[in-house]
Amino acid sequence: MSSNPPTTTNAGAPVASDAHSMTVGADGPIVLHDHYLVEKLAQFNRERVPERVVHAKGGGAFGVLEVTEDVSQYTKAALFQPGARTEALARFSTVAGEQGSPDTWRDPRGFALKFYTSEGNYDLVGNNTPVFFIRDTIKFPDFIRSQKRLPGSNLRDHDMQWDFWTLSPESAHQVTWLMGDRGLPRTWRHQNGYGSHTYQWINAAGERFWVKYHFKTDQGIEYLTGDEADRLAGEDADFHLRDLYDSIERGEHPSWTLYVQVMPYADAAEYRFNPFDLTKIWPHSDYPLIKVGTLRLDRNPENYFAQIEQAAFEPSNFVPGIAASPDKMLLGRVFSYADAHRYRVGTNYAQLPVNAPKAETNSYAKDGAMRYSWASPDRPVYAPNSVGGPAADPSLVGDAGWESDGELVRTAATLHAEDDDFGQAGTMVREVLDDAARDRLVANIAGHVSKVTRDDLLQRVYEYWRNVDETLGKRVQEAVEAMR
Ligand code: NDP
Ligand code: HEM
Repeated sequence: MSSNPPTTTNAGAPVASDAHSMTVGADGPIVLHDHYLVEKLAQFNRERVPERVVHAKGGGAFGVLEVTEDVSQYTKAALFQPGARTEALARFSTVAGEQGSPDTWRDPRGFALKFYTSEGNYDLVGNNTPVFFIRDTIKFPDFIRSQKRLPGSNLRDHDMQWDFWTLSPESAHQVTWLMGDRGLPRTWRHQNGYGSHTYQWINAAGERFWVKYHFKTDQGIEYLTGDEADRLAGEDADFHLRDLYDSIERGEHPSWTLYVQVMPYADAAEYRFNPFDLTKIWPHSDYPLIKVGTLRLDRNPENYFAQIEQAAFEPSNFVPGIAASPDKMLLGRVFSYADAHRYRVGTNYAQLPVNAPKAETNSYAKDGAMRYSWASPDRPVYAPNSVGGPAADPSLVGDAGWESDGELVRTAATLHAEDDDFGQAGTMVREVLDDAARDRLVANIAGHVSKVTRDDLLQRVYEYWRNVDETLGKRVQEAVEAMR
């Protein structure tokens, strides 16, 4: 390792190479999740130089992650070392609604975290659900359009939503979750947060693990009934935003206990579920929760626009000891968010105070709209150079990753025994919910489905729920027919 300062990404994390793209074998194709390469090319294209497309309505606060346990056997990341305290920003949101939409519409909630670590920013951009509606990035724009508005009338449309869901049976687990009590959290404080994807952790010895994050609310789970949520949507569209802000002002600082599930690297190949499928959880009985520490929010923003609206969370912000997995959703997201920020906030979004890392940045990025900081004029603007510019850290080559080799294909096929679309949703209905929660689930689904207008679509909806659970499907059909 040279004595030059390390080259970093715009987020301040050290990069593995200034000269070599990541490829599948020496002569193979360049991979999309080579984030530093994509960032470098994209920034270059923008050197001469709107509302979030999803999760537009939200609010957030600052706080601290404190590590109370020792998980250093699984990751060398500085923020997860015993006793570490790291400043954090959290932003909560709904997904489909626009900026002014009510906080209490039934929807997953965003649970986005930015950690200002000593090794660059680490962002964990999750939801209040451990799973998602789809398992391949390529369907995301279609999924979101089906939840948003019709092109002609600009109205939201239940036919469109149920058409997409029933033609995408992998959605069943998340839709079951969404229609249950946790689809309407009482406040942002009374919900869990999940990293949802499987990520990779790497320890100081270079050993790799697969990991899932769970932030369990210390306030307890509380939910709204459908009627309460409808009433609040009219009375106070900002109910959740107000609750978080007011509770912090009162000195009631919400907290979450962070746990992880850790899977040894080699287990992935033979596990009964595809461990990288975002529509699946890992049962706790297979991989128990391991406690890590506590996230506490204790400081409101001083300026909502500068600190929350312009906050740019990006699943591509990793630090040494944490990396991506082969999850096809995650790999798409690693590209998508930074691109959204360049469009929405501007090329130099990472320089804004809320997004700027606390760690030193030695990026080779230069110029572009709204750039306001610069390196010393003696510092070279190119690499390699022989005049003492930042140099990448070759010890990071091969630090994170996985074996991958094969033909280029487009397939959902996997080799795991229980890779179906409905099994885990059925488990939740039969084994996690009690009778009263099942009754509420039937009522919530039926209320939603009763707004579907097409008969052929209704038949498909009934079949979808019968596939989750035969009894549930019958009860949904009876309830909908009684309402029509
Ligand atoms: P467990 O019995 O160990 O865990 C059940 C999980 O379900 C707990 O995390 C619990 O959260 C959560 N839960 C309880 N009520 C609801 C609800 N109304 N809506 C959504 N989640 C709820 O079982 P397994 O780990 O074997 O999982 C069984 C099923 O539970 C899964 O198929 C999945 O649908 C669901 N689940 C599993 C999670 C996981 O990571 N394993 C996470 C969340 C849901 P809490 O502890 O906060 O009460
Ligand atoms: C926001 C894309 C899946 C959680 C966004 C934004 C985009 C996007 C473009 C707006 C970013 C901005 O303008 O600031 C995608 C794509 C996905 C995907 C392409 C699928 C491949 C997911 C999943 C989760 C998630 C699976 C959770 C597990 C969020 C959150 C926000 C967000 C929380 C709001 C972040 C904030 O508070 O600023 N997504 N998303 N997304 N997404 Fe996704």
